[in-house]
Amino acid sequence: MNGLFITIEGPDGAGKTSVLNELYPRLQLLAKRPIVKTREPGGVKISEKIRKIILDPANGEMDERTEALLYAAARRQHLVEVILPALEQGKIVICDRFVDSSLAYQGAGRRIGIPEIEKINNFAIEGTKPDFTLYLDVDSDTGLQRIARSRHGKADRLETESLEFHQRVRHAYLKLAEEDPVRIHKVDGRMSLQEVVEASFTAITETYPEYF
Ligand code: TYD
Repeated sequence: MNGLFITIEGPDGAGKTSVLNELYPRLQLLAKRPIVKTREPGGVKISEKIRKIILDPANGEMDERTEALLYAAARRQHLVEVILPALEQGKIVICDRFVDSSLAYQGAGRRIGIPEIEKINNFAIEGTKPDFTLYLDVDSDTGLQRIARSRHGKADRLETESLEFHQRVRHAYLKLAEEDPVRIHKVDGRMSLQEVVEASFTAITETYPEYF
């Protein structure tokens, strides 16, 4: 496996989607190898179906461990169908969310505990780890305000969780970033979109000059 595996993470409302929309074309222009953009939970047929079940606000009765297992199952299928083949071909893979999302959302947000979530995800990913993770940090008040503005009442099942849930998610991300500062690069998501894109672009291209 000689590709480069980059993930992008953050609480809801951190601006991942807008940042990726600007960041990806710039990375694409500079990439010295083929580059692939994909997202979790989904990216492939089976995982997209699982994603719909998880995020449907009508599925309010879903048990939290069921939710964690479904995310891990969607992740597994996406890994096998998209990520691993691309990395084996030496490509650069940029993935919107990966295991850190489950650690933060299910481990801390749902209070299942990080070790339990690590266990089921180890089964799903068999040791595949991102080389580099861009973490867009935003406080939960700002994040939730942005969601309220952009979703027009159509927030998904996780976005409609309480402020306390989102605060637990953010604190877990901050702790993960603190524990693994080599892999996880934190960017302040409250800056302007252009500033966030610039900081993210610089972090990635300066860390991997052999790929960009
Ligand atoms: P996503 O579509 O990436 O939403 P956003 O554009 O807001 O980042 O993810 C949908 C939701 O799924 C989001 O609220 C985070 C949640 N999620 C988990 O709870 N656990 C996971 O393992 C993943 C991948 C996502």
